[in-house]
Amino acid sequence: MTVEETLAGLHTSALAQLEQASTLDAIEAVRVETLGRKGRINDVSKEMGKLPPEEKARIGKLLNETKRDLEVRIDARKNALELAALEARLNAEWIDLTEPAPGVRPGSLHPVTIIQKELEQLFTSLGFAVLDGPEVELEEYNFDKLNIPPHHPARDMQDTFWLKADPGEKSRVLRTHTSPVQLRGLETLKPPLKMIAPGRVFRNEEVDASHEHTFYQLEGMMVDREVSVAHLIYFMKTFLSEVFHRDVTVRLRPGFFPFVEPGFELDIRCLICGGKGCAVCKRSGWVELCPCGLVHPEVLRAGGADPEIWNGFAFGLGLTRLAMMRYAVDDIRLFMSGDLRFLTQFRQ
Ligand code: PHE
Repeated sequence: MTVEETLAGLHTSALAQLEQASTLDAIEAVRVETLGRKGRINDVSKEMGKLPPEEKARIGKLLNETKRDLEVRIDARKNALELAALEARLNAEWIDLTEPAPGVRPGSLHPVTIIQKELEQLFTSLGFAVLDGPEVELEEYNFDKLNIPPHHPARDMQDTFWLKADPGEKSRVLRTHTSPVQLRGLETLKPPLKMIAPGRVFRNEEVDASHEHTFYQLEGMMVDREVSVAHLIYFMKTFLSEVFHRDVTVRLRPGFFPFVEPGFELDIRCLICGGKGCAVCKRSGWVELCPCGLVHPEVLRAGGADPEIWNGFAFGLGLTRLAMMRYAVDDIRLFMSGDLRFLTQFRQ
């Protein structure tokens, strides 16, 4: 085979390979094989020495032309591939800047907050003030002034977290209920008064589907000259119909709390089964919802009100419990979980 034929064959096969090459790596492989230092063009140029001098110039020129042609074509093929890749990327990442922005994603209220707000609105419309109390509360306010002296068995039912007190400092606890705000209300508002106090409370509890160490209550109290159980029942029925958006039937059972006398457990007729008996009401037809009673004279006295003149009612509503009833949530731990899959269901 003459050198010209070898060159022509090399040229044709390189172009065919180039045609097949569909990636940058494949093109580079073709380039190395033909134009590289150990490539086929170099093999030919090594043969040149054997040629007669008059042939050398002609073949040399031909060799350079072949080389040059392949270089140009390889480069062109590379550029075309790169351009196609770039175009594909542009198409994929293209953004229409004339489209309106997606907007801010709104957050949502916590289910307990939703119910709390509703009750605040309702009770303020009935003339109640909304009060706050400290979550880290004096032991005295959480227990003693509520007629629960040290060693009283009622303290065992509300085990909590105690803060270390320095010598001479008053002992503090994470409040176990919102009832201490009854005293703070009596002290600051002075009777006659109507107040509610929603807030977070704590218990040293073994956590399970129905017990949490942290939950929410809403305390209510009305103190005036002739407050009776009838007033208590009236306000309870009013707010419960508002919360559940229908008339509710209530009943009172005796219940013991050292800071009320008489004390009651207020039950509502089960809203799930209408009183026939189901799993929620444990087949009884009634659901325990709100402990309450008439404010104990000792509590009035501790709050600076003369029990000979003033009396009142108080109730302690479990806000978290209420949210569970209203939204049919069967695991209390969801409320404090921070789990967005749970929380975003309450978007209004
Ligand atoms: N503080 C009581 C509790 O948490 C509830 C209660 C409040 C009872 C007001 C009577 C009156 O268990």
